[in-house]
Amino acid sequence: MFWKTLKLYTKTSQRKGHVNEDVDVQDLMRRYTNDVIASAAFGLPKLGITVFPKKVINFFKGIVVNTMQHREKNNIHRPDMIQLLMEASKGTLKDERYANGNKSQNNEAFKQRPEKEWSVEELSSQVFLFFAAGYESSASTLVMCVHELALNPDVQEKLYQEIKEYKEKHGEITFEHIHNLKYLDWVLSETSRKWSTVLVLDRTCTLPYELPPPREGLKPVQVSYLLPTLCLWLQLKHGDLVYNMVKSIHMDPIYHPNPEKFDPERFSDENKHKIKPFTYMPFGMGPRNCIGIRFAQLELKILIFDIVSNYKIVKCTKTMDPVVLKPHAFNLQPRDGSIVRFVPRHAH
Ligand code: HEM
Repeated sequence: MFWKTLKLYTKTSQRKGHVNEDVDVQDLMRRYTNDVIASAAFGLPKLGITVFPKKVINFFKGIVVNTMQHREKNNIHRPDMIQLLMEASKGTLKDERYANGNKSQNNEAFKQRPEKEWSVEELSSQVFLFFAAGYESSASTLVMCVHELALNPDVQEKLYQEIKEYKEKHGEITFEHIHNLKYLDWVLSETSRKWSTVLVLDRTCTLPYELPPPREGLKPVQVSYLLPTLCLWLQLKHGDLVYNMVKSIHMDPIYHPNPEKFDPERFSDENKHKIKPFTYMPFGMGPRNCIGIRFAQLELKILIFDIVSNYKIVKCTKTMDPVVLKPHAFNLQPRDGSIVRFVPRHAH
């Protein structure tokens, strides 16, 4: 799926003469992640939409219902989310932990699982959530990664050398060997630190909780909703909203020295232990963290691997340096776009 989409873009951009030209990569990356997620969720090659107003939600509902009816009628099975939801709605979905009929593990959660009727709204909302959560975050990460590689040719060269050695040894990128591409992993981790697409994580408090003192010997933290001088609430109550400021923590020099520097070595085997727990969380934390981490990492690695193998990403006069983000935008995007030049590494 990733490969098909990728090859299509490589061909299209060559045909359109995008090589050796100034290209705004934002559109290209969004098309790629749109098609990848559409294929994984719906089994559809193209959706061609970029925002989610009401008519788009109805459009999603239509897609889900029509795809399910079409598959039911023609007895089509495909390893994607629609398939899982169809099985869930019929009650035939098997939990893989119990796939061998092994229900004897005295697992309360399994025994208590309620029989559930799924409405069309619920089914299409699941698909919509999956699409919305997976599309923009992956696209923005890719855009910022390409942009940083253009601004940091030394990092790009190191990455190219790793990819070259990998290709000599293993050929094309495969799931089996992807873990050998360590530097690629660090480059994407550093992109997710400096340009975390989710700025804050939110949680609702379910139990009263007194925040501990910030340092030993100090008083417990006092929380005020109104004015700093009016510390009326000393503890969090049921229903309170708590925000975790991910982006600020990622850019705090106490936790990540010289935070403006794009430095993949922060994640090297020698350095990664210096990152304190809960100071790096681009995919969230805890039981409600991102369920698409592995999917996203694969999608991002495959595309960056392919681009860097085939093209040198070069800074041009229109490339923003340093990057200033577009204010009031709903997503993460450089104010003047992400314009770079792709110079082919080999004659095509
Ligand atoms: C670079 C790409 C991605 C980033 C940075 C990202 C980041 C995140 C973050 C920060 C959260 C909230 C976690 C929390 O509150 O602790 C989240 C949730 C979620 N993500 Fe991702 N995500 C990415 C890609 C994907 C993909 C590709 C999918 C689906 C294929 C996906 C599906 C989801 C879903 C369904 C949730 C909600 C989980 C829940 O509420 O239990 N994400 N993601």
